[in-house]
Amino acid sequence: MRLTPPSKDELDPIEIASRDEISALQVERLKSSLKHAYENVPLFKERFDAAGVEPGDFRSLEDLAKFPFCKKQDLRDNYPFGMFAVPQSEVVRLHASSGTTGRATVVGYTKNDIDNWADLGARSIRASGGRREHVVHVTYGYGLFTGGLGAHYGAERLGCTVVPMSGGQTERQVQIINDFGADIIMVTPSYMMAIAEEFERQGLDPRKSPLKAGIFGAEPWTNAMREQIEERFDIDALDIYGLSEVMGPGVANECLETKDGPVIWEDHFYPEIINPETGEVLPDGEEGELVFSSLTKEAFPVIRYRTGDLSRLLPGTARSMRRMQKITGRTDDMLIIRGVNLFPSQIEELVVQTAGLSAHYVLEVHREGALDSLTVRVERDLSASPGSETARELQHRIKGVLGVSTKIDICEPGAVDRSLGKAKRVIDHRKL
Ligand code: DLL
Repeated sequence: MRLTPPSKDELDPIEIASRDEISALQVERLKSSLKHAYENVPLFKERFDAAGVEPGDFRSLEDLAKFPFCKKQDLRDNYPFGMFAVPQSEVVRLHASSGTTGRATVVGYTKNDIDNWADLGARSIRASGGRREHVVHVTYGYGLFTGGLGAHYGAERLGCTVVPMSGGQTERQVQIINDFGADIIMVTPSYMMAIAEEFERQGLDPRKSPLKAGIFGAEPWTNAMREQIEERFDIDALDIYGLSEVMGPGVANECLETKDGPVIWEDHFYPEIINPETGEVLPDGEEGELVFSSLTKEAFPVIRYRTGDLSRLLPGTARSMRRMQKITGRTDDMLIIRGVNLFPSQIEELVVQTAGLSAHYVLEVHREGALDSLTVRVERDLSASPGSETARELQHRIKGVLGVSTKIDICEPGAVDRSLGKAKRVIDHRKL
């Protein structure tokens, strides 16, 4: 049995308000958010001054384009608390990124921020079909990463029974899902595939688990992966998007009734799509880099934060708020192989659709002489023994669809590193 979408009277009124009402709220909230950032964060004051703008210059949504961007490097340069807009006594929570690729980035929350985050987490789970009677199994990591606690507070706010499992202990994940009767799982899509295998290893059919829906995010995943997860577990798979700099999980979430890309909770975050090279704002529907301004955040307001994520803005369907197209990749994940630009997700789609192969893959980039070469290392499916014709088929499809020549290395189950959270999809030997 699957979950059912919420009825209109279960929603927050703003979720189905008119576009005019939403825009009016955004203008009003942006005015105070710009002022708050300008008056309390030196970085924003310096940037605005240098660009010759002040909060008073913002009168309509189009005016936002006059204001300068900020990005991840700004958080690193102001490590740890330099971009906080409130005294530390007002900060009730800190989160941070691991900082594997540079200094860690640290974000903070006031009591109100945590409250809004819990509301939006609850709204996200509700959009996925969750209600207070459901058991929510949280496999996102608890700790400095926003995934675990973000999902947890959201589920608790909705009144669900929360199982704070965190990542790892895959054997035990299976047991707890079954014994505690989890209706909903919140986990990265790549780790969900590892859980599927663990079910099978234990001789259990994942389709017979109590799960009815999964809320997946924290890393790019394709619609092909969605189909595979839904088929393997007999559940609905929903996309949850977020980033710590903007809040954490629950900036946007897909609706069960449409599953057509995450709905951006536009009453708290104002989205823009820009050309990543020129910074120019692009019209809705065009692909580019997603940029967010926070409308209500107190401890860590962001104005025009460049996420590095590539998407497009789409009109509202199940809600009046706009949707974002499922993320294709990050500006910094793009591979350029012999002049062809591609994202891991484009390869994923073709891998997942090839019979005999699992969804565990990693892309290895080497330099051979003056030329780059790309190897797709992918595990065979547990129950299949694909041969060289499968490798040729995948190679042929990648060449046909993406125009790039690859080597295919089909390996044994378990040969590709499993991550407990975000999967690492690219090993670039040119940079090692
Ligand atoms: O990953 C927050 C989160 C936790 C979202 C759990 C969803 C579920 P960060 O560690 O700051 O925060 O990483 C943010 O992860 O800029 C995207 O590149 C990527 N990302 C997050 N959600 C999605 C998604 C969390 N649904 C970065 N699809 C973002 C694709 C995603 N990429």
